[in-house]
Amino acid sequence: MAPHHHAASTEVLALGGIGVRFGGISALCDVDLTIPSGQLCGLIGANGAGKTTLFDVISGIRTPQDGKILMNGRDITRWSPQRRARAGLRRTFQRVQVFGWLSVEENLLVASEWRGGGGGVLADLVASPTRRRRERDRREKAEEILRRCGLNEIRDRSAASLPIGTARLVELGRALMGDPTLLLLDEPASGLDATEAERFAGIVQQVVAAGDAAVLLVEHDVGFVMEHCHRVVVLHLGQVLADGSPQEVRADPLVLDAYLGARR
Ligand SMILES: Nc1ncnc2c1ncn2[C@@H]1O[C@H](COP(=O)(O)OP(=O)(O)O)[C@@H](O)[C@H]1O
Ligand SMILES: [Mg+2]
Repeated sequence: MAPHHHAASTEVLALGGIGVRFGGISALCDVDLTIPSGQLCGLIGANGAGKTTLFDVISGIRTPQDGKILMNGRDITRWSPQRRARAGLRRTFQRVQVFGWLSVEENLLVASEWRGGGGGVLADLVASPTRRRRERDRREKAEEILRRCGLNEIRDRSAASLPIGTARLVELGRALMGDPTLLLLDEPASGLDATEAERFAGIVQQVVAAGDAAVLLVEHDVGFVMEHCHRVVVLHLGQVLADGSPQEVRADPLVLDAYLGARR
């Protein structure tokens, strides 16, 4: 049972004509972006380019004044963040959000709990065999994700004691517990050294290769994006300046002029 898998479309995300204004400032203007399943797409752009606003629009924190958002073929433009999450959207945050007082394993287990739809005590009594099966599935899934994220050895450690590189993996693991079809990563490489960033990217690439998920990441570190993403989208003053393979984008004169050139 996977209600968020729509056979009709392999496009996990399709943004059309997205516009967001703050008073007189146009934060996003006519942004189109389509991401198919199995793609790791990186979003870059200078400060103020609109990256965070676009993430907020996709995750449902902000409603755009113009445009439409489709996820797996369904119009989610007016959906709440919670409803989008239930439909398979997960995100991580630039400032890592794990529960410090829980163990690594518990962090994963609670990540999928709230998604069950509740039902409370009565549901516990009535449907307890189903519940027990679900509980077993959840633990099996946590096992698998602990392994995939290289967290098995430290599963009992308190999440509060983890260095940033490991905490990011826990946050990724939590996101994966929700079986995302669309995973948004906000500056996942920030605070990581080269080895940790490499490892993180490797795990994300495996996730993308294994399932039908699409990943969109915002990253300040252009090198990280160029090295690990299948595709790079450059935002500039609220508009898509370039969209293509890392090679194409790196060689794009517009990008060199407006963005990469300015960083040298
Ligand atoms: N809550 C807000 N109120 C007013 N202006 C905002 C707000 N959020 C963002 N902006 C403006 O929108 C533009 C895009 O910002 P943002 O999405 O944060 O860019 P980025 O994440 O790429 O740095 C900027 O000009 C910024 O000043
Ligand atoms: Mg930002």
